[in-house]
Amino acid sequence: MKRYRIAVFPGDGIGPEVLREGKRVLKKISEAEGFEIEWVEYPFGTEHYLSTGETMPESVFGELREMDAIYLGAIGDPRVEVGLLERAIVGGIRFKLDLFINLRPVKLYAEHLSPLKGKGPRDIDFVVVRENTEDLYAGIGGFLKKGTPEEVAIQEMIFTRKGVERAVRYAYDLARSRRKHLTLVDKANAVVAMDIWTRTFQEVGEEYPDVEQDHAYVDAAVMWMVKNPEKYDVIVVSNMFGDILTDLGAALQGGMGIAASGNLHPGRVSMFEPIHGSAPKHAGKNTACPLGAISAAMLLLVHLGENKGACKIEKAMEGLLLRKEIPSLSTDSGLKTRETGDLLIRELSE
Ligand code: IPM
Ligand code: MN
Repeated sequence: MKRYRIAVFPGDGIGPEVLREGKRVLKKISEAEGFEIEWVEYPFGTEHYLSTGETMPESVFGELREMDAIYLGAIGDPRVEVGLLERAIVGGIRFKLDLFINLRPVKLYAEHLSPLKGKGPRDIDFVVVRENTEDLYAGIGGFLKKGTPEEVAIQEMIFTRKGVERAVRYAYDLARSRRKHLTLVDKANAVVAMDIWTRTFQEVGEEYPDVEQDHAYVDAAVMWMVKNPEKYDVIVVSNMFGDILTDLGAALQGGMGIAASGNLHPGRVSMFEPIHGSAPKHAGKNTACPLGAISAAMLLLVHLGENKGACKIEKAMEGLLLRKEIPSLSTDSGLKTRETGDLLIRELSE
């Protein structure tokens, strides 16, 4: 029987609660589809850091390279310096495993979840391809005269031809498999360096004459996402703008409760996570919506080539949302985290 080794990082806050349901769903799918999963759990996150002083040991990255996938809950806790563990664990996995695509599907399953008047599932169905290893996240920067009135703070926006091109190419390929429409989102009218995106997009685009090219500056792009989301099929965008754009995307899908992302290096081990954070104030209450983690599990299955299993999850979620058995994606939906997981399991058994 086929056997996958999956690294699991439950992490902080609501991470462990939502991942527990995602794992149950994956197990259920594995039984139906005839494969096995071996889970390899890692304790890294706030509790581990506070009791040991360790963020993420270097040796773990070597172990992760030997896995079939990585499944992560959420990292972040107000008891630890802002961003320390996010950079070491989430950033560490993205950068050290060179997961250069952050894939964020934005799909509305049921009209009543839409925050936009008159927009339904036919209007909100696009994918954001966020570059995932460069830009302001690359880590070049620092302080001069820190803590003084003359303080200078610098963080460099880095783009390389290699980094831009592989993101753009991935996006063209994805658009080709969908509605053949690709929008480049940037701010080249103000940020001169972003011209590298404009040129790369055009040059690579010559190899994809069947894909329609579109462009929007990021400020206009957010406006169009709200006014006319139906105009988008695939969006390709740099790391920082992509981070912002995809929280808006999550809101269009009905909320952070369902949004997921795949941190991908095609052909290599990749990492899957809900896009919501650790939400400390909801932790331990069993009220967080696990559909983000379950959607991440769906992306994980696609990456493993288990498309049938992924489709089953999507159908199950869609059915439960359309029939309002899962009435909303927020913590006050009236459903416990566990109960939403139970509904999915029941649906998958039918
Ligand atoms: C995300 C998150 C991360 C990011 C944080 C946790 C560093 O917001 O995955 O979108 O900024 O990329
Ligand atoms: Mn984000």
